[in-house]
Amino acid sequence: MTFDRSPIINPSILAADFANFGAECRAVQDQGAQWIHVDVMDGHFVPNITFGPAMCAALRPHIRGIMDVHLMIAPVDPYISAFADAGADIITAHIEAGPHIHRTLQAIRIAGKKAGLAINPGTGIEAVPQLLDMIDLICVMTVNPGFGGQKFLHSQLTKIRDLRSLIGDRPIHLEVDGGVTQDTAAAVVAAGADVLVAGSGIFKGGSADNPAPYGDNMRALLSVATN
Ligand code: DX5
Ligand code: ZN
Repeated sequence: MTFDRSPIINPSILAADFANFGAECRAVQDQGAQWIHVDVMDGHFVPNITFGPAMCAALRPHIRGIMDVHLMIAPVDPYISAFADAGADIITAHIEAGPHIHRTLQAIRIAGKKAGLAINPGTGIEAVPQLLDMIDLICVMTVNPGFGGQKFLHSQLTKIRDLRSLIGDRPIHLEVDGGVTQDTAAAVVAAGADVLVAGSGIFKGGSADNPAPYGDNMRALLSVATN
């Protein structure tokens, strides 16, 4: 079977109602989301704190599809088994999070999970060729990680193009995270991305009780991304 690179929208619950995560996950999936992006922040690697493995485990029964856990924490390795046990399908670690990203990616695969490699806007991709056989997803940060609702950094489009060409036919998703909106989605897909994380662009205007805007926002994003 060929690897499916059709663009998909991956809602980040960082923009959802923190007091209502289970219902928010169900609502956005009922509106068509197949992945849910979970942003884990530690107040050390990034200047914000969100939630940990216990929250991921609590969310898991509310996620029917892929639970995509983006770890913005350092160190990573001591927490991999906890996030694996919490039910993550994909665990993504930052290349900047420590000196041994190779070991971290090995540990994620050993835990039986798909391994993602995230790259900050200020970081180059020189190390990626050495890691290509160890990863299932590359996450290009198009904002500096830590907060939702930031402005997309157009300087990262060249990086997305270069990574797409490095990936070639390998079964590796190219994810873009940060500032993905109806104004920027077409450019990221044209550059080669296939997984579009979006927080504020999806959750704006709706709620778990009024989820139709989630669906409208996802369809609008996908439509500009693919036309
Ligand atoms: C930022 C997070 C993103 C964030 C994106 O550090 O990694 O996943 O939720 O939010 P928007 O789409 O609002 O830029
Ligand atoms: Zn993220």
